[in-house]
Amino acid sequence: MRKLETFITDSPDEAARIALAGELVAFPTETVYGLGAPIFDRRAVARIYKAKGRPPSNPLIAHVVDRDQINELTTHVPPAAEALADAFFPGPLTLVLPRHPAVPPEATAGLNSIGIRMPDHPAASAFIRAVGQPVVAPSANRSGRPSPTTWQAVAEDLDGRIACILRGERSRAGLESTVVDCTTDRPLVLRPGSIGIEQLRQVVGDVRFMSGTQEELARSPGTRFRHYAPAARVIAVEDPAALSGDPAAAFIGINLPPSTENYALVRRCRDADEYAHELFEFFRACDAARIETIYCELVAPEGIGRALDDRIRRAAEEG
Ligand code: TXA
Ligand code: MG
Repeated sequence: MRKLETFITDSPDEAARIALAGELVAFPTETVYGLGAPIFDRRAVARIYKAKGRPPSNPLIAHVVDRDQINELTTHVPPAAEALADAFFPGPLTLVLPRHPAVPPEATAGLNSIGIRMPDHPAASAFIRAVGQPVVAPSANRSGRPSPTTWQAVAEDLDGRIACILRGERSRAGLESTVVDCTTDRPLVLRPGSIGIEQLRQVVGDVRFMSGTQEELARSPGTRFRHYAPAARVIAVEDPAALSGDPAAAFIGINLPPSTENYALVRRCRDADEYAHELFEFFRACDAARIETIYCELVAPEGIGRALDDRIRRAAEEG
């Protein structure tokens, strides 16, 4: 890689000092890398939108390390949210709760609710603890691009636009957290993610999944934007056996197509977990190789497969 303008560090304390000086810092989590700012620094929060080119109406997730920080952010934790937090915090779950009036509106794109997540990653926790307040962070990609699962992918999108990257290993999950709106009686999954709806239902039986009504879409600003797309054209494939091969194309999936030598790049994944871990990094590798078309096998929408299905279909939407 060419010489970077953005400063790279392995020290959460150093990264926190930079964040507290009002600069933007990317940091690793177990899902994908985030682009962070202290939640009460309104100017830094506003700069996140600028650095990413993010639509101003798309709210940010606040990352916390403990229960006290959750109580700083919300006025009320309903019983269902309480149960989900007990079961899945720290972990790849975001709970949408009523916003505390002290939280600056910039952090939530003016909404009265706030997404809260407690990452399960030692460097992320050390960073947030050293910042001394919740850290708002969207995924650390340019808006519309695949979320970054390595620090190099962050640099590829944001070098020179942010002050610092807290370097970590490759993200464990590779797909973003599951976002669950707990502001109404029945929790509603706004974005499928690393935690499957089946797992959520073992804790709160009546968790609902979005059925696509206008009211639901209004509650989920993130669904209004094109996402996760590489420069290459993505084609979702039901049955790889029916593919005929294309030397300018790439393939990723669990079941291989016939004559794999007829592709520029092929990635076979053991199962849905490995597929989720690989997908965004594969998109970036394909762009680096100037591949024109990426065939992605669709998987059963169960467990993390639901999130994979969502990301593949969105990447395949015509922009
Ligand atoms: O795994 C993740 O969630 C990663 C890591 C960095 O934590 N973060 C992430 O952030 O994916 P972002 O900004 O790329 O996606 C946040 C999603 C968006 O779809 C956004 O609309 C939704 O969460 N969201 C955040 N706050 C919300 C709120 N108050 N109400 C409804 N949706 C919200
Ligand atoms: Mg994102």
